Order: sequence, then C-alpha cells, then structure tokens
Amino acid sequence: MAASIQPQVGELLAEARRAFREEFGAEPELAVSAPGRVNLIGEHTDYNQGLVLPMALELLTILVGSPREDGLVSLLTTSADADEPQRLQFPLPTAQRSLEPGTPRWANYVKGVIQHYPDAGAVVARARVCQQAEHSFAGVPCGIMDQLVALLGQKGHALLIDCRSLETSLVPLSDPKVAVLITNSNIRHSLGSSEYPLRRRQCEEVARALGKESLREVQLEELEAGRELVSKEGFRRARHVVGEIQRTAQAAAALSRGDYRAFGRLMVESHHSLRDDYEVSCPELDQLVEAALSVPGVYGSRMTGGGFGGCTVTLLEASAASRAMQHIRGHYSGTATFYLSQPADGAKVLHL
Ligand code: GLA
Repeated sequence: MAASIQPQVGELLAEARRAFREEFGAEPELAVSAPGRVNLIGEHTDYNQGLVLPMALELLTILVGSPREDGLVSLLTTSADADEPQRLQFPLPTAQRSLEPGTPRWANYVKGVIQHYPDAGAVVARARVCQQAEHSFAGVPCGIMDQLVALLGQKGHALLIDCRSLETSLVPLSDPKVAVLITNSNIRHSLGSSEYPLRRRQCEEVARALGKESLREVQLEELEAGRELVSKEGFRRARHVVGEIQRTAQAAAALSRGDYRAFGRLMVESHHSLRDDYEVSCPELDQLVEAALSVPGVYGSRMTGGGFGGCTVTLLEASAASRAMQHIRGHYSGTATFYLSQPADGAKVLHL
C-alpha cells in the first residue's frame, strides 16, 4: 500500500514547459519551485508571536514564465483542482491602479504577490509580502509560518521559527529509521474560514485583557491569575496557545537529541489541546489520530494546520509506515490519502 508520491521535479518541470509552449509558442525563460509544508508542532501559535516547528515537503509547485514588454500578465494553471477559468490576463499594477482579488480564486495567490512584491527585499520581507498577499487577496488572516518555511526550509531539517523575533533555526530530522506520515482526511469543513479569524481575535482580546502585547508574553501562571479578566472560552483558547508554545520549545529540544518518544508525547498533548481547548479539530481528524496511535511503532500523531479538516501528521518508525497506512485506512470512516515525505528544501530557482 504505497503513499501517493508526486512526480519528480523533472517531470513536473517538463509538464509546465510543455503547457507554456502550447500556450505562448516559445520556451519559458525562468522556472521556480516552491514546496508544500507540514507543521510538526506549534499550532495556532504563529499569529500569537509564538514558536512553530514546520518542515518543507517534497511535494512541489512549479512556476515557469518569461518577461513580456506590453505590461500584461498572462497566467495559466495546469492544476486539476483549480477553479475555472484556468487562464487569464491582466495588466501589471501601477501606482494609480491596483490589482484586486476576484475569480478564479487560484489566481488570487499569484495576483496578491504581484501586487505586494515591489515592497519586498530580503527573505523575511519576502515572506511578509506573501503573508500580506494571503491576507488581502485570499482573505485569510494567517500567521507567517507557511511563507517562512516555504522560503527557508532545508532538506533533512525541520525549521524552528520564533514568530516574534523571526529568528529561525534548523533542527536535524534525517534519521532513516524515522518517518513523517501525512494523512489527508479529504474533509474540509466550511467552518474553518470563519473560525480561524475568530480564534485570532479571541487570542488578541485575552492578551489585551492581561495587559500584554501578545499571548507570547503570557505565562501559564499569569493566565491562571487573570482568569477573572477573560471569558471562560477565551481562557481555554489562551491556555492552548501558552501551552503549545512551551510544547514546541520542548519538542524542538527532544528532536535535537533524537528523543522521538518525547516528541511523540508532545504531539499527542498538542492534539488534545487543539481538540478540547482550542476546539479546531473535528471527528474525522480525531479518528485518524486515534487510529495512528494504536499502531506499534508510532511515536505520536496530531492534527496539523488550521483544523476543521485537512491533514494529520504522524511521527513513526520508518519500518511501521505501511502497517500504519493500512491500519488507518481500515479504521477511518472516510477516504484517506497518504504522503510520506522527508524534510525538503525551500523555494528555489530551477535551471532550464
Ligand atoms: C493556517 C495558517 C498558518 C497557521 C496555521 C495554524 O495554516 O496559514 O499561518 O496559523 O493555520 O497553526
């Protein structure tokens, strides 16, 4: 039972070049790739100035293109999942005329980056621009984790990001005896889009009530002491964030010393906290985590990302991977899709 594996970069690049040639009648002059990401631990902490520990994946998006003289941008996607139309053309933004989000939705991510890119420079500024694009063009008030790991991820390493200072450090994760299994629930509850901004607001309100700039500044004892100042729900939301920041620091330390059991325990604590205090899990994700945890050789498992569907991430002995996939498949009420990936490199320019 193999995990679905995305075609290698060469194959994807060849496909992108072919689509470009068919559309524009010439070879592209530039090609770049950007990875997907999975967050190992540190969920809903990035917009609270906390710690996160994601890694870049071997799953890639490839973009090819050429400059043109007429100030028009032509976009074309070959993604089967993209909404229609799959090609469109618009003028480059100017000081007088900005780009606006609209349909097709897939193009908003590209348009947003084009609109904001002139403000970028160094790597972190580029990450900020991409985050800004997601805020204003995709309508998600996300943190900075995805953009930073997509730029700074490195093969064989997870990336510990301090979302307050934006300092990053690489944590080795290249032991061939250990694997990271991503399980897609193939569920996406519509609740996610309204609950994410709500969680963000609740966290900001609690921080304000406690006289702090963000929940990063709050210790668990301070939160307990200030319990009367916040709503019951706000208290639980903040308890997740404060605890999760601590767990992420501990998990990074555990990974550095190769203590996968300790790492796994922290993953499970993270899942419970996301389920019970932050309330962003759903029955399907809980089912997947539970199924994974009953397989010998599994260190830990948790929901990953925003929640309300999407994926779980499981750390396990590499030799247990096919057994785990089989067991999870058999115990999940929906249809699961699996990805096994080593930590990969961040975005890069490809040679044509
Ligand atoms: C989404 C956002 C991230 C982060 C996660 C939750 O994936 O894009 O910035 O907030 O949710 O950890």
